[in-house]
Amino acid sequence: MAVAAIHFIAALVPAVLATQSKVPLFPRSNATTHIAAIRACTQLGASLGAPVVQSSGPDYEFAATHAWNLQNAEYQPTCIVFPRTSLDVQVAMKAIFDAKSHYAVQAGSHSAMKGWNTVQDGVLITFSNMQNVSYNPVRDSITLEPGTHWHDAATALEPQGVAPVGGRVGDVGTGLLLGGGLSWLSPSHGYAADMFKELDVVLTTGKMVTATASNEYSDLFRALKGGGNRFGIVTRYEVYPVHTGTQDNKTWTGGMIIYNSSAEALLNATARYTREVNDPKAVLLVSFINLIANGTLSPVYLVTPFYNGPELPADIFGDFLSIPAVSSTLGPMSYYDVSETLGLGDDRGSVQHFGASALVGNEDLFLEAFKHWSNLTTALLDNFAMTTLAFTPIPDSQIQAGRARGGNSINPPSGGFAAVQIYEQLAAGIDDIPPDVQRGADILFTQTPPSAGLPLYLNECDRGQKVFQSYGEGQGLRQLQETYAKYDPTRFNVEHSQGPEGL
Ligand SMILES: Cc1cc2nc3c(=O)[nH]c(=O)nc-3n(C[C@H](O)[C@H](O)[C@H](O)COP(=O)(O)OP(=O)(O)OC[C@H]3O[C@@H](n4cnc5c(N)ncnc54)[C@H](O)[C@@H]3O)c2cc1C
Ligand SMILES: *[C@@H]1O[C@H](CO)[C@@H](O)[C@H](O)[C@H]1NC(C)=O
Ligand SMILES: *[C@@H]1O[C@H](CO)[C@@H](O)[C@H](O)[C@H]1NC(C)=O
Ligand SMILES: *[C@@H]1O[C@H](CO)[C@@H](O)[C@H](O)[C@H]1NC(C)=O
Ligand SMILES: *[C@@H]1O[C@H](CO)[C@@H](O)[C@H](O)[C@H]1NC(C)=O
Ligand SMILES: *[C@@H]1O[C@H](CO)[C@@H](O)[C@H](O)[C@H]1NC(C)=O
Ligand SMILES: *[C@@H]1O[C@H](CO)[C@@H](O)[C@H](O)[C@H]1NC(C)=O
Ligand SMILES: *[C@@H]1O[C@H](CO)[C@@H](O)[C@H](O)[C@H]1NC(C)=O
Repeated sequence: MAVAAIHFIAALVPAVLATQSKVPLFPRSNATTHIAAIRACTQLGASLGAPVVQSSGPDYEFAATHAWNLQNAEYQPTCIVFPRTSLDVQVAMKAIFDAKSHYAVQAGSHSAMKGWNTVQDGVLITFSNMQNVSYNPVRDSITLEPGTHWHDAATALEPQGVAPVGGRVGDVGTGLLLGGGLSWLSPSHGYAADMFKELDVVLTTGKMVTATASNEYSDLFRALKGGGNRFGIVTRYEVYPVHTGTQDNKTWTGGMIIYNSSAEALLNATARYTREVNDPKAVLLVSFINLIANGTLSPVYLVTPFYNGPELPADIFGDFLSIPAVSSTLGPMSYYDVSETLGLGDDRGSVQHFGASALVGNEDLFLEAFKHWSNLTTALLDNFAMTTLAFTPIPDSQIQAGRARGGNSINPPSGGFAAVQIYEQLAAGIDDIPPDVQRGADILFTQTPPSAGLPLYLNECDRGQKVFQSYGEGQGLRQLQETYAKYDPTRFNVEHSQGPEGL
């Protein structure tokens, strides 16, 4: 350990110097912050040692630059902790707390929000060495370590005929659970977080607790279903499985339909589906995508309908099926096939920007949202490689499934709606959000506000959107604030880590 610590401290010096060259994107933090980070890293180098704690070298470089959003791949944490166990996380968190250092946590790295999954002048805890997935048939539960990616979980569990309620894109990670989580299994089982059974959570002091729906930490348990990174570091997720069958059980029907026109007809169909469909076996994602190259815009409208049954019922999907498409791959599928439909989504190297709305209403409402989004795209075309407006219908069955398991902090009102994701991928060569683009997005958010009482989706928001304020009927925010005050009474997390505001 002593030798490792010496190597560690020696290695710290070049990293600290290197961080000072990053002036354009990251104005130097004040000396207090800087010194606190060095104090935490020095302490951790001595206690955990290499290879768990690193401040330079190939593992450090890979982890520091691997974030999906290019903006988050440009930070240089003072050191990076690669825990192997919950205990390592406890040791790291206590050192961070004692040193009053800034910090961040990274799981699958897919956050689009600048600064939410990495840190400058602080400690990054990243879960690349904690990716174990297992199914326990006796407890009938799935255990996911926080570094798990959804493709790996699906592949490991398929032979056992079970699946977690997880992401729709394979490279995405378990941070999805803490924001809620929209899955192909959500209409039947709720937000992904609604399937939590037991969570190991390291609080800001380094103390670890195991939270369940019924033990003394049930308030924390509920807050973590939508509370993002604010309530502690989850080091073990035990979740209820869905008994989906294996690859040989072709119990689903669906696939991908691609259109290159007929936006209005597709929006009408999406509006109607959102209002009317409440069949837990049906699930849908509608993505309006503009690909932009050399000043030319190509529309690609991607619709993925699935039904847990032998056909796509015409009264549910008929509107979509009757619109002329460019291509379509509909057919029988296993749930594993469903979960692989959208692929890994692991392309990196571009600045990414998200924003959220939530809509339910008549056709005009959806058409208006599309028009405002189209205006943003064309007004600022040269900034973009791609813009997307995506609708995920959240039927009432999903909301009720969550309530049946004790509810979550998102707590949407009864009745269905569509989570709306507004997403821009910036053009090559752009390494930060241009002010025009941020201004344009902000205008779009005011033009396309959530319908009355609907929550914004934390995992698909702009970092400036007031997501927690949009939660729950009445008590939502206050309850979240009270729970936060109870588990982090010194407000260490909100003062030393970036993430959703309002606690
Ligand atoms: C290509 C793509 C596809 C997507 N598809 C879907 C989808 O189908 N359904 C859906 O619901 N969302 C989807 N999302 C949104 C996704 O849920 C969020 O990006 C989510 O935050 C990603 O989690 P992560 O672990 O990959 O990211 P990270 O950036 O590693 O983590 C996200 C946030 O959670 C925090 N965090 C992560 N792990 C922990 C932990 N153990 N303890 C405390 N805090 C933690 C991080 O600090 C960060 O703030 C998609 C995003 C992308 C980019
Ligand atoms: C430096 O940053 C710390 C932590 O963010 C803050 O508490 C302190 O007031 C800042 N000091 C100065 C001199 O700005
Ligand atoms: C993964 O979990 C299983 C079941 O708990 C365990 O047997 C195995 O040793 C674990 N693997 C690793 C690499 O931790
Ligand atoms: C999967 O197929 C097997 C073999 O036909 C069957 O026993 C099992 O019930 C099926 N499971 C599901 C979830 O359909
Ligand atoms: C849509 O695709 C069809 C068939 O490939 C093609 O003929 C047509 O020009 C395309 N339309 C647009 C708007 O790209
Ligand atoms: C969309 O719906 C509106 C309102 O119901 C209707 O006026 C319009 O003709 C529809 N457009 C298409 C292409 O279906
Ligand atoms: C864009 O223009 C460049 C240079 O003119 C060319 O090399 C490239 O192939 C074009 N890309 C597309 C997608 O048309
Ligand atoms: C279109 O977008 C631009 C750029 O954001 C904005 O300035 C303008 O007000 C928008 N126009 C409309 C009609 O929304």
